[in-house]
Amino acid sequence: MSNLREIIDDTLANLDEMKRAGVTHVEVARETLAGLSWTGVPPVAAGISQKTGGTPLQQDLSSLQAQVKSCVKCSELSRCRTNTVFGAGNPRAELMFIGEAPGADEDEQGEPFVGRAGQLLTKIIEAMGFRREDVYIANVLKCRPPENRVPEPTEVANCKPYLLAQIDAIQPKVMVALGATAVRSLLDVQIGITKMRGNWYTFHNIPIMPTFHPAYLLRNPPAKKEVWDDMKTVLAKLGREAPRR
Ligand code: URA
Repeated sequence: MSNLREIIDDTLANLDEMKRAGVTHVEVARETLAGLSWTGVPPVAAGISQKTGGTPLQQDLSSLQAQVKSCVKCSELSRCRTNTVFGAGNPRAELMFIGEAPGADEDEQGEPFVGRAGQLLTKIIEAMGFRREDVYIANVLKCRPPENRVPEPTEVANCKPYLLAQIDAIQPKVMVALGATAVRSLLDVQIGITKMRGNWYTFHNIPIMPTFHPAYLLRNPPAKKEVWDDMKTVLAKLGREAPRR
C-alpha cells in the first residue's frame, strides 16, 4: 500500500510540474483508470471497465446494473419500487429495443417487458427471426412509475446516463424506440410517434427506428401492420430477410 501511495504522490508531483511547464493534456490508458471509483458518471459511461469476472462487456453492464440497483436519484420511484429493471438480453446484440418504463409485472420480477405488452414484444422479436435472448431490451426508466404514470422529465433526465451507458456498452447496429417516451428521450424532436414511425433517425451514430409501443398495439391491434412494416425495414437495415408469415 505504501508503494502505491508513493506512486500516486510521484505521479501527482510530475503532473504538477508538467502543468507549470504549460502541458494541458495527458493521455491515460483505460486500464490505468480501471478500478478507480467515480461519482456521478457510471464507470461504463466513462469508458472504464471494472475487474469482476466475466467478459469486459459483461463486467461493464453488471457494474452499471449494481449502480442502478442502489440508485436513489428519484426519491418517489426509489421508495415505491420492488425491483429496479435494468435490461436483459445479449450484451453484443445487433438489435436493441428501448421501451418506456417497467410496469407492475416488470417491477415484481426485475425483468423488462414480461407482462402482456412484453409477451407481444417477444412475439414481434420472434416473428423477426430472433430469440428474445439474441436482442437487448431496456427501458428509459429503470424504476416503475406509480400507477404506471408517464415518466416525469426529471426522472427521464436522472435515468438517462444509465441508458446512454447501456447503449455505449452494447453498441447495437440498430435500435428500435418503442413509443413516444423512448423517442422523446433519445431524439430532440417534438413530432408525434405516428408521423415519426417508419422513418430512420440517428442517435450517437446508431440508426434508430421509432415505432408504436406494444401496449398501444394491445389497445389498437390494427396498428400491428405498421409495426411489422417497421420491423421489416429494421431487418433490411441489418441485412436480414424478413421470415415469411
Ligand atoms: N412497458 C415498457 O415500456 N417497458 C416494460 O418493461 C414493460 C412495459
